[in-house]
Amino acid sequence: MESASVRAGESLLDLAALRADTPGCEKVVHFNNAGCGLLARPVLQAMLDHLHLEATIGGYEASAAMAEQVRDFYAAIADLIGCRPENIAFAGSATHAYTKALSAIPFVADDVILTTRNDFISNQIAFMALRRRFGVTVVHAPDHADGSGVDVEAMAALMRQHRPRLVAVTHVPTNSGLVQPIAEIGRHCRELGLLYLVDACQSVGQYPIDVEEIGCDVLTATCRKFLRGPRGSGFLYVSDRVLREGYEPLFIDMYGARWVEADRYQPVDTAARFEEWEFPYSTLLGCAAAARYALAVGLEPISLRTPTLGARLRERLAAIPGVRTLDGGPSPAALVTFEIKGWRPQPFKQAMDARGINSALSFREFAQYDFVDKDVEWALRLSPHYYNTEEEVDTVAAAVAELAHSGFSTALT
Ligand SMILES: Cc1ncc(COP(=O)(O)O)c(C=O)c1O
Repeated sequence: MESASVRAGESLLDLAALRADTPGCEKVVHFNNAGCGLLARPVLQAMLDHLHLEATIGGYEASAAMAEQVRDFYAAIADLIGCRPENIAFAGSATHAYTKALSAIPFVADDVILTTRNDFISNQIAFMALRRRFGVTVVHAPDHADGSGVDVEAMAALMRQHRPRLVAVTHVPTNSGLVQPIAEIGRHCRELGLLYLVDACQSVGQYPIDVEEIGCDVLTATCRKFLRGPRGSGFLYVSDRVLREGYEPLFIDMYGARWVEADRYQPVDTAARFEEWEFPYSTLLGCAAAARYALAVGLEPISLRTPTLGARLRERLAAIPGVRTLDGGPSPAALVTFEIKGWRPQPFKQAMDARGINSALSFREFAQYDFVDKDVEWALRLSPHYYNTEEEVDTVAAAVAELAHSGFSTALT
């Protein structure tokens, strides 16, 4: 997939061209890429073209006509994370991908799930649901006292102690810019032969991701955040080992399995066993276009620019009286979270909206461990991406400074 402005092989970020390729840049200061990135024109066009084709020749006929491009979704995601297309399944969301993967593990009472205190809210709820239904035990590895994320050595000791059925780690949580050491954890899992599931929802599209280097058996992500794909999309990576050992989702359909005899079905050999018959093809083609677009821009330059914009913002916010930035770790991702004195959450976000700045709120409910440790009830999250500018960062910081000042004055009166 090539656009006029971004050609494969060019690693230079041509900001003007990238912004011209992004219609939303003209309308908003979009600092909510951790919620949903702005679509690039080729992504939008791929989706519109397919909807048009469906309307013109029929839905089944349209997907048949686009079979090659559909196949490219798997090839593009495989290129993005360093595996074969056969290891990739499309999903309707990261959570859909994650729960399908969990459903493939035949948990029994007293199995241990070892996770972290910063894993995503819906994953934590899923673990508790498994505890309620199957009696599994959920163990949380401790964090370093300095807020720099999970203590890998302590986690490895828990691996040796419990021999968990599953080790589950979120690379970058939704509620802060913390980056967890997933490859280090993966080395311990490999050494001990443990099943390892990584939630890379906030890191795919922001950093180069290599499943071999991470050493994970399963990896899940959405396409809509830093990958800049459409809403209602995600994917699941499953390793050859997972396929070979016969893991299959609890509910497998006529696409994931063949009904080979009256009382027998046979799962397909590839990750397609985690998919279903029906696909939103325009969405899938949009995801293929988004993955090709990210590859053409270059994950290395993206990973150099995006967290750096986040760092610039964090630094400016930290200097504002009444603002406390909350992201831990030596090199946080471009998810910048902070609390601000004198404001309630909704009015503060609305004040940002009114200035044309897109942002997101996080609440204690999203991060029961992290927000309790940090003693915060809520935070605003700002998440720039490579197509944002330094000037936008400064504009956003100036808006927060102004609001912090007025919030402070209100609180004092
Ligand atoms: C770290 C993380 N994991 C998983 C998810 C869930 O993604 P989805 O909404 O596509 O299910 C999110 C969404 O914010 C997330 O930030």
